[in-house]
Amino acid sequence: MIMVTGANGQLASLTLAELGERDVPALAGSRTPTSAQRHLDFDDPATLDLTGVSTLVLVSAGYAEDDQVIARHRTLLDAAGRDGVAHVVYTSLTSAGDHLGFALAHRATEQMIKTGGLAWTILRNGLYAELFGALLAWTPDGLESAFGTGALSAVARADLAAAAAVVASEPTAHVGKVYDVVGDPITAGGIADRLGVAHHTIGLGEYRTRLLGEPNLLPFQPPMLASIATGVRHGFLDNTSPDLMRLLDRPLTDPLTVAADATAATRPGTH
Ligand SMILES: NC(=O)c1ccc[n+]([C@@H]2O[C@H](COP(=O)([O-])OP(=O)(O)OC[C@H]3O[C@@H](n4cnc5c(N)ncnc54)[C@H](OP(=O)(O)O)[C@@H]3O)[C@@H](O)[C@H]2O)c1
Repeated sequence: MIMVTGANGQLASLTLAELGERDVPALAGSRTPTSAQRHLDFDDPATLDLTGVSTLVLVSAGYAEDDQVIARHRTLLDAAGRDGVAHVVYTSLTSAGDHLGFALAHRATEQMIKTGGLAWTILRNGLYAELFGALLAWTPDGLESAFGTGALSAVARADLAAAAAVVASEPTAHVGKVYDVVGDPITAGGIADRLGVAHHTIGLGEYRTRLLGEPNLLPFQPPMLASIATGVRHGFLDNTSPDLMRLLDRPLTDPLTVAADATAATRPGTH
C-alpha cells in the first residue's frame, strides 16, 4: 500500500487525487487526519505507524529551520525502516537549487534516504509556478519584484503531484533514480506582459528590508525568499530537464499561465 504524507497540504492532496484517478489505492497521513486518514505528525514519534505501507511518498515538511526539518524527516525515515516500508519517494528540491537557503535540509534528507537501506526515488521538484507568481507585488504602476530579468524553471504543482503519483504507482521502475522535475523557464517580465502591465525591478537590499518588515513571516523566511530572488535574478534557477515530461508522458501545464493566474489572484480589489 502507498502512503502519502502531509495529506492536507496542497502537493500531497493533489498527489492523492492523481492516485485516485488512476484507481491506485493509497493511505493518507496527516497531522490533522479526517476519519479516512492516518494520524501522522513527524514531530510526534508516537503517531508514526507505517505498518502495511510498502511505498512511502515523503512530502517534505519544510517551513521550519533546518535542524527541525531534518529531525522530522529522520524520525519518519526511522519509523519507515522499523515498520517494513520497502520504497521511499521523496519530494526534494531541483538540482539548480543548491544555492537556496532551504537546500541543505533537502540534501541532508536525500543523504539519509540513500544511506538508509530502503529502495528510493528522489523527485527534485522545481519551484512552484504558483509560488513565483505570488511573489510578485502589485504597485499602482503594475508589478514589482527583485527577480530582474532572470528566469525560473517554474512548474505547476499539479504536474509535480502527477509525477509523484506515476513513480509511487510503479516504484520498482524508478529505484535509485534522481529526477529533476522542472518546467520551462519563465520571467517576472513575462508574467507582467501576460497580464498587460509593466514590471519594475527593485534591488535585493530593498527586497530584504521589505521582507524583514513583514510581520507575518517567520524568522527563517526572509533569508529563504531573498535567496530565491538572487538565484532567479542571477540565472541560477533556469535549468531545464526532460525528466518531468518523460515521467508524465504528456506536455507540461504551462507554468507562465499558472504563475500569471497566481499573480492576478493577488491583485488588489480582486476579492
Ligand atoms: N517547490 C516549491 O516551490 C515549494 C514551495 C514551498 C514549499 N515547498 C516544500 O514542499 C512541501 C509541499 O508543498 P505544499 O505546497 O504541499 O505545502 P503545504 O500546502 O503548506 O503543505 C505542507 C504540508 O506538510 C505537512 N507537514 C508539515 N509539518 C509536518 C509535520 N511536522 N509532520 C507531518 N506533516 C507535516 C502538512 O500536512 P498536514 O496538514 O496534512 O499535516 C502540511 O499541510 C512543503 O512542505 C515544503 O517543504 C516546495
